[in-house]
Amino acid sequence: MRQLLFFLLLLCNTAAFSQSASEINFYDHIAPIIHKNCSPCHKPNKSAPFSLLTYEDVSKRARFIGKVTQSRYMPPFPADRKFQSYLNERSLTVGEIATIQLWIEGGLKEGTRKPAQENKVLTSTNEIAPDFILKMQKPYGITGDNSEDFRFFSLPTHLPQNQYITSIEFLPGNKKLVHHSRLMVDTTNQLRGIDGLAETDPKVAEFQKTALKEEFLYGWVPGNDRIYFPQGTGVKLNANSDFILNMHYAPSPVNSTDQSEIRLYFAKNTVEREVKNFTLRENDISNKPFIIRAGEKPVFYISKK
Ligand code: HEC
Repeated sequence: MRQLLFFLLLLCNTAAFSQSASEINFYDHIAPIIHKNCSPCHKPNKSAPFSLLTYEDVSKRARFIGKVTQSRYMPPFPADRKFQSYLNERSLTVGEIATIQLWIEGGLKEGTRKPAQENKVLTSTNEIAPDFILKMQKPYGITGDNSEDFRFFSLPTHLPQNQYITSIEFLPGNKKLVHHSRLMVDTTNQLRGIDGLAETDPKVAEFQKTALKEEFLYGWVPGNDRIYFPQGTGVKLNANSDFILNMHYAPSPVNSTDQSEIRLYFAKNTVEREVKNFTLRENDISNKPFIIRAGEKPVFYISKK
């Protein structure tokens, strides 16, 4: 009896397996995975080098997609999830990775495009328009002298009233040369007019005396997409605040320009809890030094001030 049961179970399993392999098609099974997890970056004007929106986009790179999803190189998320989970994590489930493999093995079936899907497939992902766009006031000229370039820019919001930010996005103007950026918020308006101030400029020391409301609201590096704060929470942005952008440009042999932008999404509902950012430095840890050796899983404690 037990053997029979085992055999029946085996039969059911293989049946389910071969059925899904032959029935997996782009519109029913693959498009939802790609549009949710890949297209936010893989579409025009986003960080990735090519679009993954249509059947043609995805099928022509199918083997490559199979490889990068199986190895978990894509979607990019370098933090180790073995210890804990994080906000704004990106990953595919084991099932989603297997579905992509089965689709490739099954010969990249297209399936039938549903009329409602048509628009979504082309423009992709539940895109909502930002509430506020802040662009660098003018293009910054990057000198082609093969050296690193660190600069500060002030972007006044002139917002008439306080707002709560629920989501932030940074769009590099020059995808090749923007190495990373850091977004700060100043409510004193004393830094207005800074437009491409070099980090080596003596004026920076003066500028660093200004107490900023947010020293590190958001840090962008290639591969970071829009971040969201949990439902019911948001960062308070005071009326008339200024964003301060700290840009790092990679060395370039030729002159180039950059005009990056910040996109903000404001709370539409009541924000019950305000998000406060806290930059953790070594001095904030009570059991110093802050050293993590390979393979170790140390625990650090934050000092109560
Ligand atoms: C957060 C943004 C982001 C997301 C989400 C994302 N990608 Fe990418 N992808 C990139 C960037 C940036 C590159 C180019 C740099 C690189 O290769 O690391 C890239 C490169 C690739 C490449 C080329 C890799 C190479 O070695 O040249 C493939 C294939 C790819 N992505 C597939 C995917 C698939 C499939 C998904 C979804 C499962 C996905 N990506 C999700 C940003 C993203």
